[in-house]
Amino acid sequence: MAKDLYSKVVMEHFQNPRNMGELEDASAIGEAGNPVCGDLMKIYIKVEDDVITDITFKTFGCAAAIATSSMVTEMAKGKTLKEAYDITRDDVAYELEGLPPIKMHCSNLAADALKEAIKDYLREAGKEIEGIDLDE
Ligand code: FES
Repeated sequence: MAKDLYSKVVMEHFQNPRNMGELEDASAIGEAGNPVCGDLMKIYIKVEDDVITDITFKTFGCAAAIATSSMVTEMAKGKTLKEAYDITRDDVAYELEGLPPIKMHCSNLAADALKEAIKDYLREAGKEIEGIDLDE
């Protein structure tokens, strides 16, 4: 049963996702997909002075994908671009108090889509930040 498979935090974020939807005045958008399950995630960020002042997501995916998107938006809001870029898949899973092994790959989507959004912003703005490889 999903109830037993997921931590309380995962269930809570799945049932009450934070920051869901499109961001009208987004500075950049990042997208990540999982070719195995076909799930897709979009992250919208608003950036001011290299700080993520607002962030939302749209996820077409499983319960774990929705919970990880919700969590990553909470983790990234208010952080500098570099701090947000350094959020790893494991950080997201840790904050969710773990994901079942068969669902660990779902946390990749959130961290990857966030990284793509940050890179999209830097490319558009013609900026570079040390430690962020735009060609990666
Ligand atoms: Fe596809 Fe979770 S099963 S992201």
